[in-house]
Amino acid sequence: MTEQDFVPKPYENQVQEGKASYRSPSNIALVKYWGKKKDQIPANPSISFTLDACATTTTLTYKKRGYKADDYSYELFFEGHKKDAFKPKIDVFLGRIEKYLPFLKEYHFEIETSNSFPHSSGIASSASGMSALALCFMHLEKELVPEMTQDYFIKKASFLARLGSGSACRSIEGDLVQWGTHENTAGSTDLYGIKYPYEVHHVFQNYHDTILLVDKGQKQVSSTVGHDLMHGHPFAERRFDQAHENLTKLRSIFKSGDLNSFIKIVEGEALTLHAMMMTSMPYFVLMKPNTLEIINKIWAFREQSKTHPCFTLDAGANVHVLYPESEKSEVDQFIQNELVAYCENGQYLCDRIGFGAKKM
Ligand code: DP6
Repeated sequence: MTEQDFVPKPYENQVQEGKASYRSPSNIALVKYWGKKKDQIPANPSISFTLDACATTTTLTYKKRGYKADDYSYELFFEGHKKDAFKPKIDVFLGRIEKYLPFLKEYHFEIETSNSFPHSSGIASSASGMSALALCFMHLEKELVPEMTQDYFIKKASFLARLGSGSACRSIEGDLVQWGTHENTAGSTDLYGIKYPYEVHHVFQNYHDTILLVDKGQKQVSSTVGHDLMHGHPFAERRFDQAHENLTKLRSIFKSGDLNSFIKIVEGEALTLHAMMMTSMPYFVLMKPNTLEIINKIWAFREQSKTHPCFTLDAGANVHVLYPESEKSEVDQFIQNELVAYCENGQYLCDRIGFGAKKM
């Protein structure tokens, strides 16, 4: 499909008013998206586990304005309160998607949104938030085009979510989603996320992700600034190639369930992401001393217990601990006994691999 396939023909149906509600999860990248081109096109392909518990629920109420306006009309409520601080981000999003949803200026919208995780947890809500909103807009477009197929609905929701936040395009479906053109993955595209099309070993079913909140503060580097640092970065091209190579390697790992090789790729990706930040200009260190303490504890525990917990990181200090269902009791105990002490106020979130957004 091309971008042009997401520009609709003139709508033949009329919709006066209505309401849609979606719960959309966050996701955790195994191969990281870091670096992008114009129009939210990723510099390299990425793949993520869709999460389950960490999610945003958004309700969109819409009412036809009755006249042709040249501005957007909407009100935004976050956890029950009016939140104008989010408006600049939403304005940018609406501006980017208007070409694909030409009805946006014809309606007044009320957007009510809330997260299942604490706002000040240092967990990014852009993936879950933008995907939930994209799905709500698609609900309205489906009312305008009732013959729309489910396949098109999903692809366009992911396409629109990407224009809000790149990683959001990986939050529409589950449980493993790839985004970005990769020559060894059939159907992969820069335009939207696709469900991983190859065999995945049952060891990855119900995989756990316990998120250790090491630093609940505001992000030190916004993702926009972060992605931008890859322009002119001395190691960028090599890094982009490496992401392609890692995706190719993952194919046989997902098939065989070889957890030791899985760990090498996932931890290597997390450290590479941070290495890219440490070697950009300006440079950043986003890990905290406790991030490193946790990493070392995980390595020691893995060696001694012969179990397979591994870590991954986003662009911050929090640590995601990933582990299979069959090792849950041992790893949970280890997290309780040895890792929780490194979390800010002892806080952490228990999540697991999930199956994508749901209509409420
Ligand atoms: C480190 O999707 O937040 O989490 O497209 O600018 O909104 P924008 O960036 P965003 O970047 C996510 C970066 C990451 C890695 C990943 O999720 O793949």
